[in-house]
Amino acid sequence: DQPDTPHAELLRVALEAAERAGALLRDERPASLGVAATKTSPIDVVTEMDLASEKLIAAHLAEHRPDDGILGEEGASTTGTSGVRWIVDPIDGTVNYLYGRQDWAVSIAAELHGERIVGVVSSPPRGQVHHAVLGGGAWLNGERLRCRPSPELGQALVGTGFAYVQERKEVQARLFAELLPHVRDIRRSGSAALDLCDVAAGRLDAFYERGTQAWDHAAGDLIAREAGALTGGRVGEIGGPELMVAASPGVFERLQPLLDELGAWHD
Ligand code: IPD
Ligand code: CA
Ligand code: CA
Ligand code: CA
Repeated sequence: DQPDTPHAELLRVALEAAERAGALLRDERPASLGVAATKTSPIDVVTEMDLASEKLIAAHLAEHRPDDGILGEEGASTTGTSGVRWIVDPIDGTVNYLYGRQDWAVSIAAELHGERIVGVVSSPPRGQVHHAVLGGGAWLNGERLRCRPSPELGQALVGTGFAYVQERKEVQARLFAELLPHVRDIRRSGSAALDLCDVAAGRLDAFYERGTQAWDHAAGDLIAREAGALTGGRVGEIGGPELMVAASPGVFERLQPLLDELGAWHD
């Protein structure tokens, strides 16, 4: 056997961790699953399964990559010494998971000295494991992903999401209403990581959202870019009202300035 290259080893560890966490979430979801705690607002929720998934992923990483750092949504964060940092969303789409809906995923990305090099977004209910390695393309269940050839903006199917922050809802609603007449239609799946994979796979032409966090978009952003999409906004910053945009190139070119014009960057 050839020894693993560093990227291949990180990909292997990410795929294993996502597979194990995905199986736990699929097989062990309590019938009476409830909200364990709320975070920034009463609708920003966490369940015991978010915590169990993050714990499993952190333990897997600690076992196989003890010198790496971790940034986890639910607080499993450590500083490492190797230059590798993992960015973990143990369930992206918690509200869907809570309601027994399908659109949820485990999202795991690895960065080396601050550069994102590996991304895995695995959704057991969809039967979809997406992954990308920087420079190595984007893949879904072993098939190469390519974003859709760009239609006119008026024919574009656009995904979006709304941060679970009460004070932002009016601005989000206004932007939604002002954008809708310019595009074919708008979808809100409830998982930013899967929205980005949908752009990668041509299941959407574009995605935008205000205020996503690194764990929401780190893996999906790399997967979308490796599938030929353009991504922009303020990718990679944590907190704040940044706007994330991902789209096939021709749609990106038109959507980004339009969102600007509609004041999407401002509260
Ligand atoms: C959320 C989902 C949702 C997006 C929110 C995120 P979570 O992540 O990605 O689609 O609109 O902004 O917070 O809380 O389910 O991991
Ligand atoms: Ca959350
Ligand atoms: Ca998330
Ligand atoms: Ca989450």
